[in-house]
Amino acid sequence: MEKRWVRESRCYKTSRVFPPDVNNHNTLFGGKLMAYIDDIASIAATKHCRRSVVTASTDSVDFLHPIRPSDSVCLESFVTWTGKTSMEVFVKVIKEDLLSGERKIAATSFLTFVALDDNKKPVPVPAVVPETEEEFKLHETAPQRAEARRIRREESKKLADYLTVKQPWD
Ligand SMILES: CC(C)(COP(=O)(O)OP(=O)(O)OC[C@H]1O[C@@H](n2cnc3c(N)ncnc32)[C@H](O)[C@@H]1OP(=O)(O)O)[C@@H](O)C(=O)NCCC(=O)NCCS
Repeated sequence: MEKRWVRESRCYKTSRVFPPDVNNHNTLFGGKLMAYIDDIASIAATKHCRRSVVTASTDSVDFLHPIRPSDSVCLESFVTWTGKTSMEVFVKVIKEDLLSGERKIAATSFLTFVALDDNKKPVPVPAVVPETEEEFKLHETAPQRAEARRIRREESKKLADYLTVKQPWD
């Protein structure tokens, strides 16, 4: 089976925080950050498998610190682990106070992407090989997260079977 280094999928995006992107607390709107996260994670997944990919799930986005207009926001993403057709992508969000230079981890997120063939069917992806301490830690702990996702997916399917698609105006 083909293998790729974690570093081959790594990518970065740094942005300023502009007025249209803030909420009523004058900090970066959570939905905007989530869109950045999905965007950069999909690039890492695509770089890893060189196929088109879809987001299968986002575990959670943990907003650890608010991001202010005086900060830059830098997102880093890379593939941490692979199943057969799925890839776990980690996104680390670093905010930097541009005047003081102080940096903090503002948010973290794990997402799962699935590679698709030309018929939009899941297709096997190369395995991923960690090199750094951080990459090893994320790689080794991934099977546990994948199992939690499998259970959650089953629960989501059961819930969807129970929910109605009826609208109030039907
Ligand atoms: C994700 C999707 C392609 C999976 O297709 P499927 O026919 O159900 O395929 P499978 O059940 O064989 O799952 C394929 C892989 O996806 C993984 N997967 C599927 N749903 C998942 C979920 N919710 N969370 C994590 N992994 C998931 C499976 O574990 C499997 O991984 P593996 O091959 O590494 O073992 C399909 O459910 C889909 O198209 N969903 C909508 C995606 C979408 O529109 N995303 C938002 C816009 S990009």
